[in-house]
Amino acid sequence: MHKVIVKTHPNIALIKYWGKRHEQLMLPTKTSLSVSLDAFTTRTELSCNDGTCDELLLNGVVSSERIYSPIIKFLDFCRALFGLNKYFSVMTHNDFPTAAGLASSSSGFAALALAINQLCKLGLDACQLSILARLGSGSACRSLSGGFVMWHKGCRDDGDDSYGQQLFGADHWPEFCVLIVVVNAGQKIISSRAGMHLSVQTSPLYKQWLADSEQRLAQMQTALKERDFISVGLLAEQDWDQFQRVALTTHPRLDYWTPVSHQVITKVRNARAAGIKCYCTTDAGPHVKVLCLQSDAPHLIAMVSSLSGVVNVVQSAVGSEPIVAYAD
Ligand code: PMV
Repeated sequence: MHKVIVKTHPNIALIKYWGKRHEQLMLPTKTSLSVSLDAFTTRTELSCNDGTCDELLLNGVVSSERIYSPIIKFLDFCRALFGLNKYFSVMTHNDFPTAAGLASSSSGFAALALAINQLCKLGLDACQLSILARLGSGSACRSLSGGFVMWHKGCRDDGDDSYGQQLFGADHWPEFCVLIVVVNAGQKIISSRAGMHLSVQTSPLYKQWLADSEQRLAQMQTALKERDFISVGLLAEQDWDQFQRVALTTHPRLDYWTPVSHQVITKVRNARAAGIKCYCTTDAGPHVKVLCLQSDAPHLIAMVSSLSGVVNVVQSAVGSEPIVAYAD
């Protein structure tokens, strides 16, 4: 096989991952739960090259060191783990902003793990693939399947029980909708990786969040199963609220949000007070994800789009499975 093309979707966590119990193995301190975003796609083309190093193009251009180095590290890791004696050409295209708090690393490393598995005929099963993606970026282990996915924190030292597992596929809840409110902002200043490390060490609120989140997880699974939208939304917003408090009480303070992010959140909360079922969450970045039902989306889009500083609002359904689009 000379080349593979795969497509994956990023995911947004409803119950967040933020902090590791093992840094190198990317083992989390808490179990997290996410929903796949159909509206955004990472397309990765992978082939072997005859040169003496890997080649990487992101959206058609040579990438910055900050994006490049974790990918090369991941490829080195794969070479060592699977005894691969070759360099790769990686061409990745994201149809959404990269490293800007839109979870590009989740779909990016999921795509890379999937592509390497295909290209090098590694024969990894779904669980092993998720574990491989986790070693690139934690949240990536939740992008190897569509729908609603739970990443078990696991308890083993080797991390073999820490992987993403689909709870419900995309067809479980066609009405479930996420509005991605893209606000005016550049790349984030502190990466998630560095930020969460600081939070574990310094935020006085971190331990309480772990305990509260654990309880929320069980409630969230029931709410998803029953398609109880109000409970799903409230639980997700509560978990995000605590995540934000943890970030803001981290030393140095991690403020990933802008005044526009806060304006969007206030608008959404006002709409909720007026009777619309809508809830907010974010990644470690300024863009706001609004959870709502499809029937309420047009009204909410019009409402948040009117804010200056809102660049774009993208409506997403629940994402489906990754695709191996081409292999020869
Ligand atoms: O896997 P990373 O390094 O992209 O970290 C993801 C962190 C959050 O997006 C804030 C939370 C999550 O669970 O995705």
